[in-house]
Amino acid sequence: MAVEIAGKKSTVAPLGVYIIGTFDENGVPNAMNAAWGMQSDDGEITLMLGKHKTTENFEKTGAFTVALGTEDTVEICDYFGVETGAKVNKLEQAGCAWHNSARVNAPIIDAFPVTLECRVRSWSPDTGYLIGEIVATQADERVLTDGKVDLSKLKLIIFDSFFGAYRSVGNVVAKAFNVGLGLKKQ
Ligand SMILES: Cc1cc2nc3c(=O)[nH]c(=O)nc-3n(C[C@H](O)[C@H](O)[C@H](O)COP(=O)(O)O)c2cc1C
Repeated sequence: MAVEIAGKKSTVAPLGVYIIGTFDENGVPNAMNAAWGMQSDDGEITLMLGKHKTTENFEKTGAFTVALGTEDTVEICDYFGVETGAKVNKLEQAGCAWHNSARVNAPIIDAFPVTLECRVRSWSPDTGYLIGEIVATQADERVLTDGKVDLSKLKLIIFDSFFGAYRSVGNVVAKAFNVGLGLKKQ
């Protein structure tokens, strides 16, 4: 029997663990955790953001990176979501080494195996919608299979908003555009 879940909390899953890297006007790196986001086109990411040090930063630089949260980086990911770069240098505090993206004016944090390098395509402080053009992706070869990011090697995590937890992404259950073919009308 289905029951109605009370309250406003949405039941949309999964949410991601997207680590947004930016520089301030002095080249000081910052990173924040964002769960609300998605791929919105080929080569495009959309994130939903409140006002943060991060938004201040990319308003000036027009660029950001997005690192994918992993089991190995979960502590850093969470820290980036509970501290503000307006007060501390979070990367320094977390002991994160980083380097400049060669493609956009934003930092790449070395601990993360996969990082998207993005240019701001549009940003609306009123709605909080940030749309980024993904210019390039940097991936550690240890998480690749045949040149593609392999989620079983990456140990990707997602944000479980119902239980306030990070979960790992699990096994392949079937081939897409394939497992359903047998149910098609002949
Ligand atoms: C699990 C998690 C998910 C979050 N998702 C978002 C989000 O989608 N959008 C947002 O604006 N803030 C989100 N936050 C809050 C920011 O990460 C937080 O306010 C952070 O301190 C902002 O950093 P900054 O001030 O250095 O830019 C999230 C925090 C956590 C812990």
